[in-house]
Amino acid sequence: MRDNWYQASAYWPSSFALITTVDEQGETNIGPYQLSFPFEVIGGRSFLVCSRQNSNTDRHIKRGGVCAMNFVEFDRHALKKIVSLGYPGQDTVEKMRDNPYTLIDSPTPGRESDGKRFPKILKEAFQVFECTWDAEQPIRDNGRTPEYFVLRIDNILLKQTWATNIEEGTRQMPQMPITYGFRDGGKFWFAEHRKPFWLPTPTDKGPKEEAIMYEANRLDPDISFTRDACKQLTGVPKPFIKTVLKGIAKQAKERGVSEVDREFVLKLQKERDS
Ligand SMILES: Cc1cc2nc3c(=O)[nH]c(=O)nc-3n(C[C@H](O)[C@H](O)[C@H](O)COP(=O)(O)O)c2cc1C
Repeated sequence: MRDNWYQASAYWPSSFALITTVDEQGETNIGPYQLSFPFEVIGGRSFLVCSRQNSNTDRHIKRGGVCAMNFVEFDRHALKKIVSLGYPGQDTVEKMRDNPYTLIDSPTPGRESDGKRFPKILKEAFQVFECTWDAEQPIRDNGRTPEYFVLRIDNILLKQTWATNIEEGTRQMPQMPITYGFRDGGKFWFAEHRKPFWLPTPTDKGPKEEAIMYEANRLDPDISFTRDACKQLTGVPKPFIKTVLKGIAKQAKERGVSEVDREFVLKLQKERDS
């Protein structure tokens, strides 16, 4: 049972984020972080990041309160440089000499790099989470443990093709690098995965309306569907359900309805049939 047990005494493959922050001189710093996970996922949107005390990222987040988490696709050449960016004890100017990425301003209004607080983001990233540190949520800090940051996700930026991929029904997944972390005092392990594939979820388990509810309640953040409304739609053939749900959500929006219940669905069905 050693410190850093997940890599010193066990195996744990995962993604990692390249966190950009602003240093004391206003320059953007990149730090690689494997210990970065979705934390609040329903209602709240946050990431949990664990960093050693006094890393550049740790200091910068505490000073400026913001960061960007950049996710890049697999590139073996860039991984070598990422290992350099993850070597402790270098200041921003020193480590960024070997940075393989292009730094650009955030496209989010008000988040352009200002040389004080808002960092640049990586042009090559296929997705970037722009975050604000939730300092009210310290999980534990006894001065000896690493820092645990709860980072509230303010914006999710996706390259257009990856946004379209989600909106139009996922057809592919980004080719993300995997890390197994630091080993044997001098090696950083990575892996490349093969083409991602999908399996269908069971259709003969649980209530029939469950899959419809899942689909319905992620169409539009302003419109929710009740269970009874979804039960009413279980007769719609599967290939048409998304189109039907979109149509209902559109009608709800036009009529100022924020909760679609069974009565609303029945009303639309009646209107359509008359
Ligand atoms: C792929 C990779 C993942 C890493 N993950 C973490 C991590 O989760 N937490 C951590 O404290 N250090 C991690 N490190 C080491 C940090 O990157 C290292 O402490 C570095 O100095 C941080 O950069 P910064 O000081 O500019 O923030 C990782 C390094 C690499 C190469």
